[in-house]
Amino acid sequence: MSVQLIQQYHAKVEKIIRYGGSRNESALRKSFQDLLEAYALGRNLLLVPEVELRVRSGRRVVPDGTLKDALRQDWGYWESKDEKDDLQAEIATKFARGYPATNILFEDTHTAVLYQAGEEALRADFTDVAALDALLTRFVSYEPREVTEFHRAIEQFNADVPALAAELRAIIEEQYAASPAFQKALNEFLALCQKAINPHVEMADAREMIIQHVLTEDIFMTVFDEPQFHRENAIARMLQEVVDTFYYGTTRHTIHDRIAPYYETINARAAQIYNHWEKQKFLKALYENFYRVYNPKAADRLGVIYTPDEIVRFMIHAADHLAFQHFGKTLGDAGVEILDPTTGTGTFITELIEYLPDSQLQYKYQHEIHCNEVAILPYYIANLNIEYTYKQRTGAYLPFENICFVDTLDNMGFVKGGQHQMDFLAIVDENIERVQRQNERRISVIIGNPPYNANQLNENENNKNREYPDVDQRIKETYIRHSTAQKTKLYDMYARFLRWASDRLDRNGIIAFVSNNSFLDARTYDGFRKAVADEFNGIYVVDLKGNAYTSGERRRREGGNVFSDQIKVGVAVYFLVRKEGEEGCRIFYNAVPDYARAEEKKAYLRDNHFTDLQFWPIHPDKHHNWLNLAENDWGELIPIASKEAKSRKGQAENQVIFKLFSLGVVTARDEWVYADTEQELERKVRFLIDVYNGEVNRHFGKVDRSDVADKLDYSIKWTRAVKQDLANGVQYSFQQNLAATGLYRPFVKRYLYFSPELNEMQYRLPEIFAGENLVIGFTDPGSQKPFMTLASQQIPDYHLVGAACGTECLPLYCYTASGERLENITDWALAQFQAQYPDPQSPITKPDIFHYVYAVLHHPAYRQKYELNLKREFPRIPFYDDFWQWAEWGRRLMDLHLNYEQAEPYPLAREDLDPQTTRRAVVPRLIARKETGVIEVDTLTTLRGVPPEAWDYRLGTYSALEWVLERHKERTPKDPTIREKFNTYRFADYKEHVIDLLRRVCTVSVETMKIVRQMPG
Ligand SMILES: C[S@@+](CC[C@H](N)C(=O)[O-])C[C@H]1O[C@@H](n2cnc3c(N)ncnc32)[C@H](O)[C@@H]1O
Repeated sequence: MSVQLIQQYHAKVEKIIRYGGSRNESALRKSFQDLLEAYALGRNLLLVPEVELRVRSGRRVVPDGTLKDALRQDWGYWESKDEKDDLQAEIATKFARGYPATNILFEDTHTAVLYQAGEEALRADFTDVAALDALLTRFVSYEPREVTEFHRAIEQFNADVPALAAELRAIIEEQYAASPAFQKALNEFLALCQKAINPHVEMADAREMIIQHVLTEDIFMTVFDEPQFHRENAIARMLQEVVDTFYYGTTRHTIHDRIAPYYETINARAAQIYNHWEKQKFLKALYENFYRVYNPKAADRLGVIYTPDEIVRFMIHAADHLAFQHFGKTLGDAGVEILDPTTGTGTFITELIEYLPDSQLQYKYQHEIHCNEVAILPYYIANLNIEYTYKQRTGAYLPFENICFVDTLDNMGFVKGGQHQMDFLAIVDENIERVQRQNERRISVIIGNPPYNANQLNENENNKNREYPDVDQRIKETYIRHSTAQKTKLYDMYARFLRWASDRLDRNGIIAFVSNNSFLDARTYDGFRKAVADEFNGIYVVDLKGNAYTSGERRRREGGNVFSDQIKVGVAVYFLVRKEGEEGCRIFYNAVPDYARAEEKKAYLRDNHFTDLQFWPIHPDKHHNWLNLAENDWGELIPIASKEAKSRKGQAENQVIFKLFSLGVVTARDEWVYADTEQELERKVRFLIDVYNGEVNRHFGKVDRSDVADKLDYSIKWTRAVKQDLANGVQYSFQQNLAATGLYRPFVKRYLYFSPELNEMQYRLPEIFAGENLVIGFTDPGSQKPFMTLASQQIPDYHLVGAACGTECLPLYCYTASGERLENITDWALAQFQAQYPDPQSPITKPDIFHYVYAVLHHPAYRQKYELNLKREFPRIPFYDDFWQWAEWGRRLMDLHLNYEQAEPYPLAREDLDPQTTRRAVVPRLIARKETGVIEVDTLTTLRGVPPEAWDYRLGTYSALEWVLERHKERTPKDPTIREKFNTYRFADYKEHVIDLLRRVCTVSVETMKIVRQMPG
């Protein structure tokens, strides 16, 4: 690979010389820089051009490039010389000027010379590819001793932080009980936080702020060797006052002695950094590292990750351009008030300070640049960075008084005539005054990188986002009201920040955010897309892709993630322009090329200005799709079901085939409420209920609601609803009649405890399975798997065909609360079908329609033609020519799929090795060898003769046979309690059953494909 890189470099150089006519030194240097960058990247290092360095003599030098790691440590230096120079003489001069000889590479595009540890280590002629490769590899692999030591110190620090924090927590609790002064100071501080930041701030949050303050204070004081930045900050001062009431004497000494060595190491490194940009980067890297070890959950929740400079610069340029284009004003002009609502380490604001013209900077800085931050550490860092940058730029220190320590989403004060909602008459506090001041301003540019973290996945992680009733209400009134999606996940941080910013922005203005890109095409965001198009007049999107939650070819196309591959969600930069008096909304789209790597995406933003990019106009369709618009007759087909029709009780039926529909069951604790035998199910559920009831007895009425989450016994699986029940003191009891049968995966039934308490979501299933019934399951739009359909008489699981894919059910019947069975296919649909296919002798019935629909959903040409539609909407059904043929196919398919356990076993040849002769333990295999038609059951038994078409019957990404194999493998349960107490499944106990099932499902597959292949192309 490296040799290839060198060959590419030579090819490039040849081209430059050929086309340039002569040697263009700067182009040649750039090519070598690219080559060096590629080598550095292979070692996770970055080549940073022209960073100032102070050498031993005290003199400052600027090597052409510095190799740096993620913690901004210097690994080596590069000096590029002109071919006309005498390389050896140049090297001597550089060393005489004090250039470090630890690891430095000199070259003049003919010869490369590497010095390490003061000695010439290697020399290579550029034409000797192998020698040059060896030299470059050695250069990027050399880790200087100081760097090793620094990393060791940081690793040790990381390992010690949790223990130190725990110790401080204990000290605080102790002191809180013992010292009235501390108690008073802390209570006052908490009250202030609740007023200023968010009423939901709890004592635990205040305590954590104190710990973070104590653990990191020295870093701020010393890395930036001008401590006034920190001392003069309002919040830091206040926290220091609280800290001073308990953190002195022996307490202080004990903790301080333990952290001092780390700070010495950190300070020693910091002392060598003279470039203020580098210093800021160093501090940010330390901060990110610290936060991730100190509180990884909060780091995730808050989106603690700083924004690459390339993105920030691009966005500022673009916002400036758009402000001028639409409003005739630049960012520097008076009256353009700018806000970063989640400033983190202050990257956007510092970049803005660098960007604005001298003449406009001071006024802007003092009056029209605002930012917010809710976490204490980034707040400190932002404050430092901003003041420091200003001082570097102007030579004068000026406190930055427009940074607020506040929860942006909770601050809806601006709505109420510029008053922060809370009553703060009694408190005179600088931070509160700042918030109030900000709320009085008309903000015309909101720019930043809000957190992208979506809903918490697992309640046992106890890492919930805060609740924001006001913003959520606004989301409900807008994005959700316009959405047709079934399961809306719009109360995520990303939607909340856009909602907040849209409401906060003035009647004329621009929002510039970098965030999740799923709003571009996800079905859940259809209402969101409509709302933003209604609320703005111009939308510009730069899609940076990089969604790592995709798979296969799509995953490869998504490419790297512009956040240096540190996050998994796809990313887009978007600009929303609102202009009073303008009608309609023009939407423009640009995207990075498919397959681009993270570095290439950054380069895309670095090397292109907004005005260089070519934007494509987007014309949304009537369902508010922006991308991948499908052009066909979809709109003319009849809708299978719709949200509106389902909710209309007693009113005229809407024009759909099925009135009621429901998603499959979401248990949120599969390992607890699914089982292979009834006895096992009962044992697990009883255990869970016993622990739960014990927790109710232990906590209900005794522990403050907000503290319960920290005190729970997490040996069982909690969910939000179960926590809520506990908070209300609800006791559970095991009920035999709730043990039902579920269709867990295709052709795999399992016992299911179908309890409203222990299933997170049952949707409308209780109305469907109140008695015998029959449903057509199909892939919920928005899922990431190919469309499938499967009939069932049992309760289907939401993830019937695995994760990232939901299953909807259309029942033949539904049941009223009194148990009466009703037909679920509408009279309207019956009339449509009867009118379309008139036959007075034998009119179409509702079960015929049921069968017809089932056949159509299997039709390969239908699935292909409407692929994009099916990804976004519920199916619509065409009237095919021969109704009865389709109804008959549907009936036969349904018979096969419902009665698969009675299908004739397919004559697969079984081969068994003699256990005596193998003498090895029998190990389950359950592997399909499709090319040879073989199924390896275990190390003894093989089935042969699976016909090729059997594999073609697929549901989602697996064939029916593969589902059976997959589900019967032995696997270690993920839940620790289940693993320890209920891990009873052994394949050997089910072997004969599985072989029998495979044979029958093989027949079902072959017969299904026979029918499907008769359908017209
Ligand atoms: C993705 S980071 C921003 C990074 C920033 N641009 C930088 O480069 O440092 C998001 C920041 O928003 C802050 N944040 C999250 N929720 C917030 C809220 N509700 N109000 C204010 N700040 C918030 C987090 O603490 C975090 O520092």
